[in-house]
Amino acid sequence: MRYVYLRAFCTFVMIHLGAALDNGLARTPQMGWNSWAKFGCGVSEQAVLSMAQAIVETGLDKFGYQYVVIDDCWHGPSRNRSTGAPLADPTLFPNGIKKLADEIHGLGLKLGLYSSAGSMTCARRFGSLGYEEIDAQTYAEWGIDYLKYDNCYNEGQSGTPLISYNRYRRMFDALNATGRPILYSMCNWGEDQPWNWASTIANSWRVSGDLTDNFGRYDDRCPCTSMLDCKLPGFYCSVARIIDFAAPLGSKAGTGGWNDLDILEVGNGGMTNDEYITHFSMWSILKSPLLLGNDLTSMSQDTLDIITNDAIIALNQDPTNSAANRVFSRLIEGGGSLSLWVGSLVNGTTVVAIMNTSSKHQRLHLSFDEIFIDWLPARTFSYRVFDLWQKTPSKAGETLDFSQWTNSPIWGGDLGIRTAALSGIDVGVHATRVFKFVPW
Ligand code: GLA
Repeated sequence: MRYVYLRAFCTFVMIHLGAALDNGLARTPQMGWNSWAKFGCGVSEQAVLSMAQAIVETGLDKFGYQYVVIDDCWHGPSRNRSTGAPLADPTLFPNGIKKLADEIHGLGLKLGLYSSAGSMTCARRFGSLGYEEIDAQTYAEWGIDYLKYDNCYNEGQSGTPLISYNRYRRMFDALNATGRPILYSMCNWGEDQPWNWASTIANSWRVSGDLTDNFGRYDDRCPCTSMLDCKLPGFYCSVARIIDFAAPLGSKAGTGGWNDLDILEVGNGGMTNDEYITHFSMWSILKSPLLLGNDLTSMSQDTLDIITNDAIIALNQDPTNSAANRVFSRLIEGGGSLSLWVGSLVNGTTVVAIMNTSSKHQRLHLSFDEIFIDWLPARTFSYRVFDLWQKTPSKAGETLDFSQWTNSPIWGGDLGIRTAALSGIDVGVHATRVFKFVPW
């Protein structure tokens, strides 16, 4: 038992020694909703307000979803011609961004905005390169709490970590100079290995090209096989590919600075329920920000169940702040793999996830020798094991009443005490099983 605590303590110290940006924000991965996946360039004041209201009405705010982020295309046709200040589109945002921020704050939420460290945004609206000070200042005056900062039209200012760092650093300095706490979410798609340098200037950084609402389809527009030296991050990346990309980067995430695996697609219709469970589970244990991307005003019970699984969200928000590590990945005949992921949690507990990206059902026996591969003494302990995608018996079958949500876990079926192994684990096609091990 002592070793359990010793290991948890070492993990804690390691993460805090490598501590990232200390602007007081994103102490755990940020959570909220982003407009891009659902609305693209059709975003508007009305759309943003209805999503914010839905967050409160469905109780999602109680689960930690806090930031409402307006992505690309909020921009007017040009900047203010005399001052150079950014202007919002007067038709899409008739009351202006400041009024919208006031309303969002009135709901107890926070507002995010988007720009690009380039001459234009990806949708060819005006960018912030060369306008960092006036943009940051205007965002602060509008009451913005979060900036997603993209990489399009960067005028060739990329190619080495230092060039990219210097370009993103300008906005970091400008945001700091406003005196307003604004979460800084870098989006340079993993170019120039941001996990090695962005933690000193940003609260999160995208690690890959854009996710698409698909589980595992290969697409040449997402051409890299690994992000470690990727020259063309692209888009149309599937869930399984982004998990592969993020797998070696876990140790680079920590308090105040997170690997961003991109906006969640849960509820957008392109995947099966098991695939969305895998998507949400893996984003959670890899400590990605959890930014919903679906229509919150019309959700199925399945979607709501996934995004409000409080036991899984607790893994993402766990104060130990360490991402799970892939312990093995076994290729399955016919394509795909079966992989084991293990991560440290608070109080010496452990998360154990088994992901099946193949198209064949898998059954496995997992010995503690495999689970605790790095950590010999822990193999001899007994654990109380909880299945985090099973509802607790008292809550099973209940319709959730979010207004009554009281912080008691809805999810986490108790499987009893286990010693030496966890056997008979069934993992369906494209499914993930997630267990919490509590030393006993
Ligand atoms: C890039 C980003 C996306 C989104 C779009 C908007 O592709 O990676 O997340 O912000 O731009 O144009």
